[in-house]
Amino acid sequence: MNTPKRYLITAALPYANGPVHIGHLAGVYVPADIYARYLRLRGRDVKFVCGSDEHGVAITIKARQEEVSPKEVVDKYHNMIKQSFDQFGITFDIYSRTTSKVHYETASEFFKNLYDKGLFVEQTTEQFYDNEAGQFLADRYVSGTCPNCHNDGAYGDQCESCGSSLNATDLINPKSALTGTKPELRETRHWFMPLDRYEDFLRNWILEENKDWKSNVYGQCKSWLDNGLQPRSISRDLNWGVPIPLPDAEGKVLYVWFDAPIGYISATKELTTDWEKYWKDQETKLVHFIGKDNIVFHCVIFPSILQADGTYILPDNVPANEFMNLENDKISTSRNWAVWLHEYLDDFPGKQDVLRYVLTANMPETKDNDFTWKDFQDRNNNELVGILGNFVNRAMVLTNKYFDGKVPQSGSLNEEDQTVLADIKQYKAAIEDNLEHFKFREALKEMMNLARLGNKYLADNEPWKLIKHDEQRVKTILNISLQLTANLAILAEPFLPNTAVALKEFINQPDKKWEEAGSGQLLETGHELNKPSLLFAKVEDEEIQKQLDKLINARQKAEASDIEPAKEEISFDEFNKMDIRVGTVLEAEKVPKTKKLLKLTIHTGLDKRTVVSGIAEHYQPEEMIGKQVCILVNLAPRKIRGIESQGMILMAENGEGKLVSVVPDEKFQEGAVVR
Ligand code: 2FM
Ligand code: ZN
Repeated sequence: MNTPKRYLITAALPYANGPVHIGHLAGVYVPADIYARYLRLRGRDVKFVCGSDEHGVAITIKARQEEVSPKEVVDKYHNMIKQSFDQFGITFDIYSRTTSKVHYETASEFFKNLYDKGLFVEQTTEQFYDNEAGQFLADRYVSGTCPNCHNDGAYGDQCESCGSSLNATDLINPKSALTGTKPELRETRHWFMPLDRYEDFLRNWILEENKDWKSNVYGQCKSWLDNGLQPRSISRDLNWGVPIPLPDAEGKVLYVWFDAPIGYISATKELTTDWEKYWKDQETKLVHFIGKDNIVFHCVIFPSILQADGTYILPDNVPANEFMNLENDKISTSRNWAVWLHEYLDDFPGKQDVLRYVLTANMPETKDNDFTWKDFQDRNNNELVGILGNFVNRAMVLTNKYFDGKVPQSGSLNEEDQTVLADIKQYKAAIEDNLEHFKFREALKEMMNLARLGNKYLADNEPWKLIKHDEQRVKTILNISLQLTANLAILAEPFLPNTAVALKEFINQPDKKWEEAGSGQLLETGHELNKPSLLFAKVEDEEIQKQLDKLINARQKAEASDIEPAKEEISFDEFNKMDIRVGTVLEAEKVPKTKKLLKLTIHTGLDKRTVVSGIAEHYQPEEMIGKQVCILVNLAPRKIRGIESQGMILMAENGEGKLVSVVPDEKFQEGAVVR
């Protein structure tokens, strides 16, 4: 493989609607950072860009929840995310944002350019509109039942349960996220990217030219292409986003998935005046690091847009990861089931490398994986402390003890010594090969194998016993162990950057280059070492328990906040005034010209009476006939749409807002009293 002239590495722009969690880190930012650091260490020309994704319904929904403006939301989370990435040591060359002036200009220009070339299809279609809120419902403003997997919480753009991409109008029982009402269809004009016209190009480019992409990525692309591509709307009726730069486009903005990937270009522009070299020269290798839910956008839609423009390069690779779960459950922001980066940094100061290590060792490269606090503790205690820390510490402490902290002279080498020295080169080559192919877990394993090799070498040779009668042999063993340590100080850097700095400080050799690793002669005889300090500390059971308790508490709090607050206290007498009976529905019909109302005739045991109930969106009339219900019979009658309603049937609302009638769990005589 020829070495590319330069690299442009992008990491998915996180939505600025919440902090970053370990799922984001394991999926995108840790692998991207390892890759960027590695390439820089190899002296390659690299630009690593990212920023906050600040448009779309993800932001406006959050603003509504927090009762602030979208601008306040993005300012708050952009700063928070930027700071925690920085503290964690993700080495972006720029962390920009899609509300920047440069981005607005770049995205509008991009749209305008394609528009002028006549590449969009303008069409008036029917979209959901919330009458009560007086606005169109873009993407996540609509939820409902997924037509594919029947998950009740699917959104207007995607079902997170089965991963299918949806149109809001595909949803069964659609509901507005703004008012909970059933939206109506209204005509509106939009611009569509005719993806169907790019099918041949994509088939050839992905399925033929990029057969080496990861199988999860290749497979998802193939399935999209095999299902046939449809034109996709790239505009939205929303008052938050990059305005469509056309006359007569009031209230219309670019779809967030049109402007966000262009954010990579804007960020590069902000970073360097040379940006075109990174985006337009075929000798640049463009790599997008993303999570699996972003595959279609980076492999199908954005490349079609770039291709339509015709002056940009296409990604060379899109090494998307699968998802990281947490304690055997999906990470969920709304259920507060997550380990948040900013909280980790507070709870484990100075332990950035431990999290990097655990997330890399478990990276969901080919399938979803699980983060558990127990595993975090085990990997820290058994691997970082037990293998890497232990080896380095023994090599350093013994050298200090026997040879006054100076690298001893190696004598003649036996077969084992020679094998160990030769192995260093092999491990380096294996790390490089794995990193070049985005196999981060394997690469990390190889780096740790080098430390394992050192541990075994010391354990096999027992210099602490030999010192009594064969000092020369001990010199050789420690020389080799220190050469291993010096190699680790270089080779650990992409994965464990702070550890690498500490190791370099221990061996008093701060500036050896990556290319020099692999050698058994990095440290000269007589070179003076520094005193080592503790490389890794044990994580105790109490710390882990604290994290587990925190998780459970946070989730309980999130769940409790979904529950309607309790009403004010009433006396028993007040309760006793309610006369609730079991009844049977005899007849049911829709109340004409209404969406929500059913007219029910109910046998209450006392009489047959009419009740008008707001359940038409949840029950078909025929489903109600024959059903037993609990009915409040002494409620004062009232007229609803001209019909006198004589009572009320008891309903419970489930988590998705569906009303379910409260029914006795066995057949009752009508008139039985409920108390
Ligand atoms: O899924 C997400 O979190 C998106 N904000 C990723 C955008 S990536 C890019 F295209 F900007
Ligand atoms: Zn689904």
